[in-house]
Amino acid sequence: MNGIILFALSALFAISSAMATTGPSEPGLDRGRSIYEQRCLECHGAEGRGDGMKAPFLSPRPGNLVSAATSAKSDKDLLKIIANGRPHTAMPAWKDHLSEEDQRAVLQYVRSLIRFTRPLTPPPPAP
Ligand code: HEC
Repeated sequence: MNGIILFALSALFAISSAMATTGPSEPGLDRGRSIYEQRCLECHGAEGRGDGMKAPFLSPRPGNLVSAATSAKSDKDLLKIIANGRPHTAMPAWKDHLSEEDQRAVLQYVRSLIRFTRPLTPPPPAP
């Protein structure tokens, strides 16, 4: 009897620790991804490089969101652009379409694209 309970407990423990090791769950990231795919991908491209389906027809071209120039900008600056758009470009203002929370989630997703992109310049040769 005791053995069964112990077995059940250890099975439960194994399952929960397996779930814990699949990486931190970032609900904002999933949300950000679906918003990005619905709203941003057509211009900024699947990897954020500014090569979406509509990009060839736009002038100026959509920003390369994984560029060093964009990566270096603060969350505050990027959120401002996302909320208000970029005047004289195709970049729309999202503040009437996305809640502040959604704007943050989509920025979080954009930032995650940067992490998974290989650096453009090769590392310097070893001395
Ligand atoms: C209709 C096309 C289009 C869509 C849709 C679009 N963008 Fe843009 N985006 C642009 C263009 C064009 C620029 C301006 C590039 C420039 O300034 O030269 C831009 C610029 C930006 C910048 C500024 C980059 C920088 O370094 O200053 C951010 C951040 C950005 N977009 C995020 C988003 C996000 C997030 C979404 C989805 C919610 C989105 N964009 C949807 C076209 C688009």
